[in-house]
Amino acid sequence: MAVPPLSRPIRFIRRGEVVSVSNVPPSRTLLELLREDLACTGTKEGCGEGDCGACTVVLGETDGGQVRYRAINSCIRLAHSIDGMALWTVEDIAHEGALHPAQQAMVDQHGSQCGFCTPGFVMSLFGMYQNHVCKGEPISRELAQEELSGNLCRCTGYRPILNAAQAMAALPPVKINETALLRQLQTVRAEPGVTEAGYLAPRTLAGLLQARANHPEAQLVAGCTDVGLWVTKLHMEFGRVLDVTQVQELRRIEQYPQHIAIGAAVTLADAYAALVKDRPQLHNFAARFAGLPVRNSGTLGGNVANGSPIGDSMPLLIALGANVVLMSVRGHREMPLEKLYTGYRKNVMAADEVLAWVKVPRPQSPHPNPLPEGEGTEEKDKKDGIAPSPPWGEGWGEGPERLRVYKISKRYDDDISAVCLAINLQVENGKVIAASIGAGGVAATPVRAVKTEAALTGQPWTQATVRQAIATLRAEFSPISDMRASAAYRSEVLGNLLQRYWLESQGLQQINLASFRLEEAA
Ligand code: FES
Ligand code: FES
Repeated sequence: MAVPPLSRPIRFIRRGEVVSVSNVPPSRTLLELLREDLACTGTKEGCGEGDCGACTVVLGETDGGQVRYRAINSCIRLAHSIDGMALWTVEDIAHEGALHPAQQAMVDQHGSQCGFCTPGFVMSLFGMYQNHVCKGEPISRELAQEELSGNLCRCTGYRPILNAAQAMAALPPVKINETALLRQLQTVRAEPGVTEAGYLAPRTLAGLLQARANHPEAQLVAGCTDVGLWVTKLHMEFGRVLDVTQVQELRRIEQYPQHIAIGAAVTLADAYAALVKDRPQLHNFAARFAGLPVRNSGTLGGNVANGSPIGDSMPLLIALGANVVLMSVRGHREMPLEKLYTGYRKNVMAADEVLAWVKVPRPQSPHPNPLPEGEGTEEKDKKDGIAPSPPWGEGWGEGPERLRVYKISKRYDDDISAVCLAINLQVENGKVIAASIGAGGVAATPVRAVKTEAALTGQPWTQATVRQAIATLRAEFSPISDMRASAAYRSEVLGNLLQRYWLESQGLQQINLASFRLEEAA
């Protein structure tokens, strides 16, 4: 493949200095750049696919006049994508012979044994230190567990590492000179947004659309947490890459009364934070989307455009009635998310189009819902065979929307779904008045369960209705067997999840792992 000529080096800040690296091919990963080009072998390679966290490093970017710190997986991040940022590896955080609190706490708490995972853990701890300890925020056991879920250790066991996370705040503080760093970041960002002719990272939407029109053959990336695997596992090389993550307009989340619009360059971490703000019951689901380093690099737009049938965002977004906006130099068009897909990883996007926005309806506010005379009483419901209206209990939100999303994977954290089911019903006066259901892992694309929605809509919210809908749901899709689950298991579990939804609607709690709470360290 002909590689276009090179124009200017990658520039980033490390150890207080501007680092400039030339002649970096577009497909080179950040981990390769570190270990092979810069001979910094402190950062380790474990899986090479964003699962183990051994390669974790921290990036710093200007965000609203402050430095934003993100722990990411360097193995699946393209080297050019850090142009204009600050970088810290495990070799960069000790100062004048003194270990950083993230390192000292690991030593004090005996958090390292063979040590292979340790550089990654230390850098995730460093990210937590900058994002929480430096802001005076306490690190709870739960927070530590969530933010370290992208780092795996085969020997030490997690208790001492979680202890280390909680012990950092008690150690003598170490602060980064952010004023000086912001000045340096401004200097390296002043360069135009194209690092080399083979790697295009436009900073404006107009620039992105023009680049797409000029280079329809370029590999589009928006975080690269999936495309990175094509490089590390399939050894693919790209002659030209078009990176959407520096487009300022698409790095925004816009709030409107009826919906939020999430730009295609918004990270999964930020996108899910916005979704959880509107719907707090999504917190556990959001925390189980891969690990934090993947959520810090990957984008919601990338997840949706990639269209993997086992991507976790799409079942949820389908159940929420989200739309996508596709843009090109010719204009834009909007469609329901499920209409984007035409087959396994195939979609309706033209060669010059990009997915620019995901628009997610906001929950409707609660309404008084006045009942007609005599309706909604226990006696009348009994006569009509309607189950007593459950209180639905905590965690269902305030408005008429009754949303649950279930992820089934072999491992609770940091894993890919075998099946994902998002169920969004509106039940009024004991009757289902609207049903919106998205499913993943059961077809070649993420899908809407239209037959099951029809089986529920207009029916009384009873176990009999649910039983009928379970049969419809199991018959609606023909999943395949693969390493994650058999077809039979997937069909069975789909129905079981709808039954779980029913049980939860009846007030039954603690029938899932999400209800398990870690105890604070003594
Ligand atoms: Fe395992 Fe990067 S080497 S996540
Ligand atoms: Fe050996 Fe973590 S200390 S893998």
